[in-house]
Amino acid sequence: MPRSFWQDRVVLITGASTGIGRATAIAFRQAGARVALAARSAQVLAQLAEDLGGPAWALAIPTDVRDPAQCQAFVEQAAAHFGRVDVLVNNAGMVVSGLFEHLQPGDAETQFQVNFFGALYCTRAALPYLRQSQGVLVNVSSVAGLIGTPTTSVYGASKAAMNAWARALWVELRPYGVGVVTVCPYFTSGVQLAQKGILRPGSLHQGSGSQKQAPGTQTAEEVAQAILRAAQQRPRLRVLSWAGRWIWRLDRLAPWLVDWIMAWGMPRLGNSHHEQELTA
Ligand SMILES: NC(=O)c1ccc[n+]([C@@H]2O[C@H](COP(=O)([O-])OP(=O)(O)OC[C@H]3O[C@@H](n4cnc5c(N)ncnc54)[C@H](OP(=O)(O)O)[C@@H]3O)[C@@H](O)[C@H]2O)c1
Repeated sequence: MPRSFWQDRVVLITGASTGIGRATAIAFRQAGARVALAARSAQVLAQLAEDLGGPAWALAIPTDVRDPAQCQAFVEQAAAHFGRVDVLVNNAGMVVSGLFEHLQPGDAETQFQVNFFGALYCTRAALPYLRQSQGVLVNVSSVAGLIGTPTTSVYGASKAAMNAWARALWVELRPYGVGVVTVCPYFTSGVQLAQKGILRPGSLHQGSGSQKQAPGTQTAEEVAQAILRAAQQRPRLRVLSWAGRWIWRLDRLAPWLVDWIMAWGMPRLGNSHHEQELTA
C-alpha cells in the first residue's frame, strides 16, 4: 500500500471536541497522522482520543485557549509526547449572535479571546516546532471574516483580525518554509456554533435553525476534508462551498452590492426578533 502523506506526521487541533474540529481530528487520524486534541470538555476529548487509537495515536489535552499558559502547555505536552509538530489547526471558535446594540458587556472580548487570541497563543507556542519541521499553520476562519455579516458583526471582526494576521505571518514565515493557510468555511451543519454559541436579540439563529437550510451548507466532514487538503497543498486562502466562493467573489467586485443584498435580506431572515423587541 502507498504510504500516506500524513503517515507519522503530528497534527495539533484546537476545538477538537465537536463539529469541524472533531471531524478534522478524525480525518487526519484516518489519513495516518497522530493527533493532539485541545478543547475544554475533558471527558469528550478523552473519549475521542480513545476512539482514535489511544495515546500512541491520539492525545487529549484539555485546554482553554483563552489562557496563554494553557496554550503553551498544550503544544509542549503534544511535542514531548509525539516528538514533533507538523501542523497546528487553530479551529477553536465561538460566536455571540445578535444585533450589535444588544451585545452584553464581555461578548465582544470573549469572541476575540477565543477566535483571535486563542489562535495567536497556540501559534506562538507552536512556531519553534513548526520551523523545525517546516510545517504548516492552518487557521479556521470564516466567510464572515471576509465580508461583514449582520448579527455576527464582532464574530466577523475577530475572524477578519485572524485573516489579516495570517497574511502577515505568511510573509514572515516563508523564509523558514512554514506554510500559513487560511480556510474560510461557509455555513456548516452538525453541531453548530449557533447551538453552542450565545444568542442575543436579533440573532438569525433563533427559532428553526435557518443555518441548516442555507444553500451551500456543508457538513463538518466536508469541511474537514477541505482542511486536510489545504494543509497538504498550502494555499494562502481557501474559501469553502460554492455559495461561500460566490459571495466572496461578488464582494470583491462590488462590495456595495453585497451590503445591499444583506440589507434586503435582514428583515426577511430574522429581524422579526428585533421588531418584536422594539415593539414590546
Ligand atoms: N459552523 C459554521 O457554520 C462555521 C462557519 C464558518 C466558520 N466556522 C469556524 O469553524 C470553527 C469550528 O466551528 P464549529 O462549527 O465546529 O463549532 P463548534 O461545534 O461549536 O466547536 C467549537 C469548538 O471550539 C471549542 N472551544 C470553544 N471555546 C473554547 C475555548 N475557550 N478553549 C478551547 N476550545 C474552545 C469547543 O470545545 P469546548 O466547548 O469543549 O471547549 C469546540 O470543540 C470555528 O472557529 C468557527 O468560527 C464555523
